Amino acid sequence: MKNILIVSLLMAGLFLYSCSGNNSNKQTETKIAKVRDDSGMRHEMGNMANCPEMGGMKHEMGNESDKRVSLNLSPKKAQHQLMNMRNHLEAVQSIINYLSKNEFDSAALASSSLGLSDEMKMMCSSFGNEEFERLGLEFHKSADRMTETIKTKDKEKSLESLSLTLNYCISCHSSFKQ
Ligand code: HEC
Repeated sequence: MKNILIVSLLMAGLFLYSCSGNNSNKQTETKIAKVRDDSGMRHEMGNMANCPEMGGMKHEMGNESDKRVSLNLSPKKAQHQLMNMRNHLEAVQSIINYLSKNEFDSAALASSSLGLSDEMKMMCSSFGNEEFERLGLEFHKSADRMTETIKTKDKEKSLESLSLTLNYCISCHSSFKQ
């Protein structure tokens, strides 16, 4: 009985030692660093492979410090912009959903909601930042190209063109914040 008690105590001690040791901390650090590397890499590949015209932009996703340019938006304008953004995300989901079911007309309709309308032109130019405006307009024009591609009912080309449009989301998000 006494022996069992001693063995149990020893095992508990070993367990505690291995959990509180430096080793486990180091492992966690490596894990976090790896996730950061991965995302940085995906980011770079996405832009360089699919959208060479945006290769000149700076991308600092793996970096600790936030180097995005702030647009200094008023609270009201900030709310309006975020609402637009959430609608953009919903449109992307609809496009993928309809494409997966070969419902090209509905996919084209969802895609056209991302196109260059007068409202979007005004929105993009109202932030007082030329580069933001340029990226915004290019984004909406790329969505118009996507709509035309979807209308040809070629699923592979449609997905390719969705990917090109998403590169503009990525590019702007890595450059600007509210
Ligand atoms: C021209 C610039 C630009 C483009 C293009 C752009 N966004 Fe954004 N988006 C922003 C900015 C700026 C923010 C605010 C980010 C911040 O302050 O951290 C934002 C925020 C968001 C948010 C957060 C919304 C919330 O309620 O918090 C989502 C979601 C989003 N964008 C989706 C998209 C999607 C999807 C696309 C492309 C289909 C897209 N955006 C294209 C500039 C852009």
